[in-house]
Amino acid sequence: MSILSWDDFEDDEPKQAAQAHQPAPVEPKKTNDSQVVSDAKQSSQNVAATQSAGTYTARSTNPTDSLARASHALENLDVAPGLEELEMGAQRVQVDDKAMINCRADLNQLVPFKYEWAWQKYLDGCANHWMPQEVNMNHDIALWKSENGLTEDERTIVMRSLGFFSTADSLVANNLVLAIYRHITNPECRQYILRQAFEEAIHTHAYQYCIESLGMDEGEVFNMYREVPSVARKAAWGLKYTQSLCDPTFHTGTPENDQILLRNLIAFYCVLEGIFFYCGFSQILSMGRRNKMNGVAEQFQYILRDESMHLNFGIDMINQIKIENPHLWTAEFQEEIIQMILEGTMLEIEYARDTMPRGVLGMNAAMMEEYLKFICNRRLAQLGLPEQFAGVNNPFQWMSEMMDLRKEKNFFETRVTDYQTGGALSW
Ligand SMILES: [Fe+2]
Ligand SMILES: [Fe+2]
Repeated sequence: MSILSWDDFEDDEPKQAAQAHQPAPVEPKKTNDSQVVSDAKQSSQNVAATQSAGTYTARSTNPTDSLARASHALENLDVAPGLEELEMGAQRVQVDDKAMINCRADLNQLVPFKYEWAWQKYLDGCANHWMPQEVNMNHDIALWKSENGLTEDERTIVMRSLGFFSTADSLVANNLVLAIYRHITNPECRQYILRQAFEEAIHTHAYQYCIESLGMDEGEVFNMYREVPSVARKAAWGLKYTQSLCDPTFHTGTPENDQILLRNLIAFYCVLEGIFFYCGFSQILSMGRRNKMNGVAEQFQYILRDESMHLNFGIDMINQIKIENPHLWTAEFQEEIIQMILEGTMLEIEYARDTMPRGVLGMNAAMMEEYLKFICNRRLAQLGLPEQFAGVNNPFQWMSEMMDLRKEKNFFETRVTDYQTGGALSW
């Protein structure tokens, strides 16, 4: 499939066809400026009169009127509210003015950099850019449609994985833009969050692309997060941490509310993206290692690479908030966070048992349980909290190699298309 070209935007035919059904535009009258304003007033009175009569179709499309209205609006632009907001004439932003949360420095200025790690992750995320259509799905389609291509257990894993992930990435994206974004008060982290939000859109696109390519029942797959208990319980657990932050009256600035934000960050970055993704990812990637569903597995491999960066960014962000606000990280709060991470681990173990009632793909629920306990210990250690499971090892060492995938050479030896850059666009 080709990448978008400017030619896609230059085809006027559909517009002309659409215009053929519109009433003919009124010819603009040649007139002087005062007449234009007077005409504009007359025109807006006409529009108001027409609207009050219950008809909205007769709004003038006269370009002279539009120009007059635009010019009039600019003449009357009141700059005071904008100036107040931006504190015009205030001192330029200094590095020390910046803070992770509750910062009052101008958030429209990316530099001077304070949180270089966030900026670097933004650059790394951009360097890993990919699109779902680059992955060849032909082998998967043939295998999915052939009667003896996959066992019933393998089919369940593919369906459940697409069922969980197709909505989970939307939950994460919505949490980013509707809950977290406005409370993280430095532009470097916001820059990464914007990049992450786009990557989550690409992930949802990738799942949709797999579901459509395989000809699955879209209604069944997209509703699993409400209909299949092991999927629904994970989604519900995450959603409860979004609710208070989405309330437009919620503000950080008190220890209680700052802790609500921290709980959300830990629920989403450490549990949803850091634990809930790992059973499904290792199942699908194990399938790819066995040369089955290679296209789906390749999509998941790119997603896993992005997700491991989201997780690392989240951990850095949480730890930086802790450093700047040590009063939030009380012994009681730490106990609560340990419990949250244990709850997440238990839900993921439930999901592993549900999706693997028997051994499949060289793995089983007991091995997955050990892997998830290993992951749980790792998340706790990353937050500076004590590990909760003694003596567990990583039974899936190959997963670590998958996460270190480099763009130009991946496990399945497929090719990543070079992206069209500004210099390569054809005008
Ligand atoms: Fe994602
Ligand atoms: Fe993510």
